[in-house]
Order: sequence, then structure tokens, then C-alpha cells
Amino acid sequence: MTNYKSFQAQINEKFGLLFSSKPRIFQAPGRVNLIGEHTDYNDGFVFPIALERRTTAAMIRRDDRKLEIWSENMGESIAIDLNDNSSKRNHWSDYVAGVAAIMEKSGMTLSGANIYLESDVPVGSGLSSSAALEVSTALGLAAIHGIEIDKISLAKLCQRAENEFVGMKCGIMDQFIACHGEHNKALLLDCRSLDFQMIELPLQNALFVVCNTMVKHELGASEYNKRRSECEEAVQILSQHIPGVQSLRDISISQFTQHAAKLPPVVRNRTRHVITETQRVLDAIEALKNDDLAEFGELMNASHNSLQADYEVSCTELDTMVEIARSIDGTLGARMTGGGFGGCTVNLVLEDQVDSFCSIIQQRYQHKFNRMPDIYISAPSHGMREIS
Ligand code: GLA
Repeated sequence: MTNYKSFQAQINEKFGLLFSSKPRIFQAPGRVNLIGEHTDYNDGFVFPIALERRTTAAMIRRDDRKLEIWSENMGESIAIDLNDNSSKRNHWSDYVAGVAAIMEKSGMTLSGANIYLESDVPVGSGLSSSAALEVSTALGLAAIHGIEIDKISLAKLCQRAENEFVGMKCGIMDQFIACHGEHNKALLLDCRSLDFQMIELPLQNALFVVCNTMVKHELGASEYNKRRSECEEAVQILSQHIPGVQSLRDISISQFTQHAAKLPPVVRNRTRHVITETQRVLDAIEALKNDDLAEFGELMNASHNSLQADYEVSCTELDTMVEIARSIDGTLGARMTGGGFGGCTVNLVLEDQVDSFCSIIQQRYQHKFNRMPDIYISAPSHGMREIS
């Protein structure tokens, strides 16, 4: 007899020890964005995949308007009173409390829950552990209360929790892919209409390899919100000169060139990034259709350069990681992924070079920063689901 216990059995056992009952088990994945960064809140396009790494939220209902939450990763429990849940506590539980608060604001009455959380999405790595937590919690809370909610509404609700409760003005990408991910497919999402296509990745002999810088610079959240206001400023100015402009999505590259001088220099750079990045996503899809991975990789490189120079959301660790990657034979493209200021890079690497890619990255990055980077290789995976 082996000691092997299914994942589900392990969760049931841990939950049983904490709450003396058997839970329903829900999961949602982290994500890596392949191209289309800082375009979602500008109504542009994004192209992420869901990862095989996911957050698990096991729960049962209780009837006293309390959420009793245990986080296995934090080794900590917290109780939240749903009658007193209108503002954040600056704590990991804000994502859960925020989801519950927005569900209730949207007219879904919750009676309470015992919740067990665990995750293998690395926190603060730009792989969207927060959306994985929000979406798994929202899916679970809805299910145990018998509330029907479609995937798009659930993604929007989680985004609202992050915008209004946590105070991070994120776009819709992370929550959307956590809901919609599909095995071996990437999501092409039009963040204006929310029309989307799941696109098969014809990667032939290449793989996406994710490298973690293991740093997260504190200014991330405030700089993120600042980028949003700079984009809004650009829209405000350009809409006085170009009719019908509601977001940076509405501005073509030639219109930008014509009117760029009207923008303050920093805002002009931000705008250039968003407009060219939106086009790069469409070009990347074309490249995939033509089986042109070299071109896809070039577009990834151009995306990083633009995030670094024009959007200024990269950092020394990300730039170094990208430089090392690009110097290795068999790397077709390398860029930072996610919000920036630390976190991960995503690299398109020829399969037969992946081993040497990983060892060179680890060795050189560690040599420079004295930190060993984690490396993840994940096939595009499925979105949220109940596994019990
Ligand atoms: C964070 C946000 C997303 C998106 C990316 C940048 O991950 O949560 O909405 O804006 O940054 O592309």
C-alpha cells in the first residue's frame, strides 16, 4: 500500500481538522500574459494563458454571517463579520472580504462560510495570485449559497472587489483568464467589448518559460494607479483634437504621430506604449496564424522594450533577466509580464534548449543578484472549477 492520497482527500482531511466537516472544493489558476501589457484598462487587447498553478478555496456554508478563514500559506486564520465588512484591513484577507462585500453590494446575500485556502501561485510574482484568490472564493461563495452567476459577471465582480475594496485599479485581464482559461489555449480578449477567442497555441518545438526575479518593489500599486491616470490624461487631451475618442484604444498609430506633440512628454511616452502594444497583440495573433514563432518572439521583445522605456514599469532585475534570456541560443523572445516592478519574465524558448536556458538564467541571475530565481514551465491550463 502506498501513502498516496489524492489532492482532494488531503484538502478534506485538513478541512476536517479545522472545521469538523467536509467541504466543497473550488479552484482558480494564476496566469501569465504572453503579450498585451497595460492595455486592458485602456480598452485594448490582451493575450494571457492560465497556469497549472492554482488557488484552492474549500468551504462550507454557515449561518451566522461570519467568514472563518484559514490560510495554509500564511499559517493564519481570520474571522470576518459580514455585518461589518465595508472597508479593507490591509491584510491578505482583503481579497476574500472584498469579494464578499461586492457580492453583497450586488444583491447577493451571504449567510457566512468556513473557508480553507491554499495556493501554489507564488504571491507578488506578477502571476496574479490575487485574481486566483478572488475568483476561487467568488466561485465557492456563489456555489454554496446557490447563487447562479455567469463567468463574465463573476470576473467583473472580482475586478470590482480589487478596484473598490482593495483599492488597486486593475483591469479585467487577470480575473477574466482565471474564469475562462482552457487547456492548451491562450485567451485573446478585447477588453472593451469583452468578446474573446480561445486560441490554440501552435508552438511546434518551443515552450513558454516563466522566470521569477524573486523581487517585488513596493511602488508597484501606487505606480500602477498613476499609469492609469496618465492614460486618462492622454484621453482627455487627445479627445479635444480627435472626435469620438473615449480611450487610448480609439487612437491609431498615425493619429498618435500627428497629435503627439500636444501631450506632455511623460504622457506621450505612456500613450505610445499603449497604442503600439495594442497593435502588437494583433500582430502576434497574425504571427501565430502564420506559424511564425520568430516574429512572435520579436513582438515579445518589442513589448518589453516599450514597457521599459516608454511605460517605465520594468526594473533592473526584470531588465537583467530579459537581457540574459536574449543572450541564450534558442530564445525567440523575452519580456516582463504582468504589472511590473518585479515579478516574472515570460520567454519563448526552443524546446531542445530549455534545459540550458534554465541553468544559464539561474546561474547568471544568481551571480548578479544573489538570489536563485524560480522557473516555471506550464502548459496553458483550464480556468476556475469545482473539484469536489
Ligand atoms: C496587473 C493588472 C492587470 C493588467 C496588468 C498589466 O496584472 O491586474 O489588470 O493591467 O497588470 O497588463
